[in-house]
Amino acid sequence: MPRILQFLQLNSTNAYAKTHAKELEDGAVICAEEQTAGRGRFNRKWVSAQGGLYFSVLLKPNNTQHLPNLTQLMALCICQTVRELGAPAQLKWPNDVLVNNQKLSGILSEVVLEQNRFYALVIGVGINIRQADLSQVGQPAVSLEALNIHIRQQDMLARLLERFNARLPKALAEGFASFGEEYKALFPYIGRTVCITAGGGKTAGTVRDISSAGTLLLHTQQGLQEFSIGDMNA
Ligand code: BTN
Repeated sequence: MPRILQFLQLNSTNAYAKTHAKELEDGAVICAEEQTAGRGRFNRKWVSAQGGLYFSVLLKPNNTQHLPNLTQLMALCICQTVRELGAPAQLKWPNDVLVNNQKLSGILSEVVLEQNRFYALVIGVGINIRQADLSQVGQPAVSLEALNIHIRQQDMLARLLERFNARLPKALAEGFASFGEEYKALFPYIGRTVCITAGGGKTAGTVRDISSAGTLLLHTQQGLQEFSIGDMNA
């Protein structure tokens, strides 16, 4: 089991993992009690005060065919772990975890390149555990504590890593297909009208399905469109 590097404070666990990718082993986990420059998707800031769980997993897989699906696997593992703890968590494509339509967790995955070639994947996870104040988050958010679930950050991390590492080999080999049915069972948006922001544009439509590759299939006025990346708003 790779080591967990635990810090009191970092600018960003993703930034640390990327900077030190060379000397870190495959599967290394970087965790910080707080981040001074936590990063979210689409260049957003991730408010990272004490009380949250902030960590990054560094992966150096030989098979890079299914990389985006590893982030989806992490989201599924978070969702399942939270449900096991008693909260009705659901997935918002591609990798947010919500409880009662409030954000509990987000993931930012980043690639490390060497000489323009893939070297490593960093999966950065933020989970609201017991922060005193989530009003700065910029969207409806909730913590486990507010849901009456009392768990220490390290116990949450241990549960999560056990689940993720157990599923990882199959996901690396088979991609979304290895967990797609479980993902879709926790994804409540099929048949609902949503708006996808991707590539600088917005597309409204009805969610038809998540494909066997983990992409979102949206029925729009222009026909069926497929999204492999984006932000979904319902
Ligand atoms: C999102 O926008 O929903 C993704 C948020 C990801 C935040 C995590 S916290 C640990 C890791 N380090 C970062 O700077 N960001 C990710």
